[in-house]
Amino acid sequence: MEGVIDAVTRELLTAGPGIDWTVTEFVRVVDTRLPPRAFYKHCPELKDGTNATPTGVPVHIQLLGSDTDALAANARQALKLGATGIDLNFGCPAKLVNRHDGGASLLRCPDRVYRATRAVVDAIDGRIPVTAKIRLGFADRQQAVACARATEDAGASRLTVHARTRNEGYRPPAHWEWIGRIRHHVSLPVVANGDIWTLDDYWKARTLSGCDDVMLGRSALADPWLAARIRHWQETGQRLAATTWPMRAGIIDDYAQRQRRKLPERIVTSLVKQWLTQMRQNNAEAEVHFQRVKRITALDELLEELAA
Ligand SMILES: Cc1cc2nc3c(=O)[nH]c(=O)nc-3n(C[C@H](O)[C@H](O)[C@H](O)COP(=O)(O)O)c2cc1C
Repeated sequence: MEGVIDAVTRELLTAGPGIDWTVTEFVRVVDTRLPPRAFYKHCPELKDGTNATPTGVPVHIQLLGSDTDALAANARQALKLGATGIDLNFGCPAKLVNRHDGGASLLRCPDRVYRATRAVVDAIDGRIPVTAKIRLGFADRQQAVACARATEDAGASRLTVHARTRNEGYRPPAHWEWIGRIRHHVSLPVVANGDIWTLDDYWKARTLSGCDDVMLGRSALADPWLAARIRHWQETGQRLAATTWPMRAGIIDDYAQRQRRKLPERIVTSLVKQWLTQMRQNNAEAEVHFQRVKRITALDELLEELAA
């Protein structure tokens, strides 16, 4: 997630079980081949040759763009640098991105989704998987199935569907039943995404979409143990205990200590508040702690308050 989940966050979130793969923030492709540093910035995991988090969870590099030649050139560049998977972003709703013809704007024309995906699949020539992420459409859902089919016809090996249109932004509800509709028209594996905040949400999304696998966005930060909870239930049929405040404070402290090795303290302070903001959306304790620390500007003081 752009501006939110970086390599440090990926490392912390994949320290425990539940997450099978991760995706970088999108790499914006315009009309040129980007230099290696652009890929290393989004995906430092390329540098050690593993393209995975320290626990071995793959990190797929996400490209966002519409120029087929540039997408192909950047896919080849990523492959050369050691990428083990490329994901294509057809879901970003940001006005600036859409105005420059990227992300969800391609969903208005399934043929463009096809051509963008095909360009990358051809460039990669079967050496690593190419996956795609779509929303249900731009303004409406009329092209949802056509866009999904376009990714499959072009050779994508997996499709993640965020169950809202671009114009629906991030407003609830997510229309998981539409993912079920899409699944009936494609044969590639489909992953459900959108508003899966709890194990109960997972059950509902799974029932309505028919997908076992889900992609967690904001909720991976809101409850860093949600993926483990889902995996535990899949394997045992049992519920894990709820995530406690000390667990939450612990992961935030770990995050801050790692980030402060490379970022200025004031930036780490605001990153910590950003993570807390995700947590407080559906956790009363996080809300109380956030209110207590929101005006603190010194990082150590902030972390001490959270641990108190
Ligand atoms: C701040 C922010 C940044 C995001 N950046 C990306 C991104 O770079 N690539 C992507 O595929 N989705 C991105 N998303 C969308 C999420 O991956 C996800 O599809 C969406 O938030 C719905 O899932 P959720 O309800 O689990 O968060 C972003 C979402 C947010 C809120």
